[in-house]
Amino acid sequence: MKKLAIEGGPKAKTTITEYFPKYDIEELMELVKLWGLKPGTEQKIKAVLEESWTGKSPHLFRYYHPEGDSMTRRFELECSEFFDVPYVLATNSCTSALIAALVATGAGPGTEVIVPAHTFFASASAIVVAKAIPVIAEIDDSHTIEPEDVEKKITQYTKAIIVVHMKGLACDMDAIMKIARKHNLYVIEDVAQAAGGTYRGKKLGTIGDIGCFSLDHYKVIASGEGGIMTFKDQWLYTRAQSYHDTAACWRPNRYEKERKEGELFAGENYRMSELQAAVAYAQLKKLKNIVDNLKKNYKRIVSKLQLTEYVRNLKDNDPDGGCRYVMGLLWQDKKMAEAARKALEAEGIWSSTHDTNVRDWHVYRYWEHILEKKTATKEGCPYSCPYYKGKLPEYSPDMCPKTLDYLSRSLFIGISPKYTEQECDEIAQGINKVAAELSERKRENKPLLNI
Ligand SMILES: Cc1ncc(COP(=O)(O)O)c(C=O)c1O
Repeated sequence: MKKLAIEGGPKAKTTITEYFPKYDIEELMELVKLWGLKPGTEQKIKAVLEESWTGKSPHLFRYYHPEGDSMTRRFELECSEFFDVPYVLATNSCTSALIAALVATGAGPGTEVIVPAHTFFASASAIVVAKAIPVIAEIDDSHTIEPEDVEKKITQYTKAIIVVHMKGLACDMDAIMKIARKHNLYVIEDVAQAAGGTYRGKKLGTIGDIGCFSLDHYKVIASGEGGIMTFKDQWLYTRAQSYHDTAACWRPNRYEKERKEGELFAGENYRMSELQAAVAYAQLKKLKNIVDNLKKNYKRIVSKLQLTEYVRNLKDNDPDGGCRYVMGLLWQDKKMAEAARKALEAEGIWSSTHDTNVRDWHVYRYWEHILEKKTATKEGCPYSCPYYKGKLPEYSPDMCPKTLDYLSRSLFIGISPKYTEQECDEIAQGINKVAAELSERKRENKPLLNI
């Protein structure tokens, strides 16, 4: 036996392997391919990359960078400035942001959370995942949660209200905040569909206690998948950070004991990757311009509308607010809405209606996961949770008749930030033409469309 190295003997291993880059040009080229460039361009890019390759690759894990240096942190800091809030946490989706938000507020076993009957299922699903009871409230003719119904549904077990700025339309935040403060409830704004929108001069997502944004493919800005959380309160931010990072692994002092009770608990991994953050960072820079143009085009179209007694604009909680990638019209009945959609399509104007008899995860009627209290395990938590002392809501497909009525009569016309003034004017003229003609036929009791 030789002498131990620690005691002055020879080292067993003297060879040192060269630095082994985790990510090479191949990975970068796979990303380049996603952009679908013209033939030959990829090869040119590859040649340039090979020429300037330093052998060093980036970390795609945010916490391997010095504080403030990662793409994800840079994105969070840009969001802080853009939304004018002190704390921002980037996540891997809005669904995870909503769950982390609920956990941060303490909504969980034994509590109820109010959610609108019209939203993507994620807003309601997050409540069940956080182990609280979802209480479904009506929307009103603004297409967003009805404050009166929210107040009616508050019980001694209510912990939070999730309001959703659907389709870029701002909720009645003054009324909601008044109710929340009166009953000492948290307000979580689901801004998945309304990034960059405003309400009475404030950015949506910064009025309640926590704002949750989505960066999935369909949203105003996107990074394929991703989410943003905005906070005014440091403790809510700290708790959300803990939950989003498994064991609060990456607090400033990683292995430090709990600084305050409620900081350390078992969490999930909802961290944003540097790949998502790089795209999200570039997208955020475009957001103001997109929303400014959407608002300008929306205003131009609305200012030229001449509607009739059979159709009106949705109730507007802030005529200068929202983010306006759609314009909503409310028709007298479902048949008129559907006839208008078809007629507008023939005029060259894209619009959509809601057939509430067709399955759709945006309509509470089809959330049988909740209506039938389905759960992943047979014990049936949270509905069977012994900590819950309230009376479970009586869920049914018809429990929110106002929501079904408003949805079935509404029609949404898409607006692009790229529209020219002429395109806006043509849309307004098309709407006026269809509204006038269908209304005339309705007055005269004639068929709405001769097809
Ligand atoms: C209103 C609303 N909330 C939450 C979500 C969930 O977002 P994500 O796909 O980022 O989890 C969506 C996505 O469609 C949404 O529209």
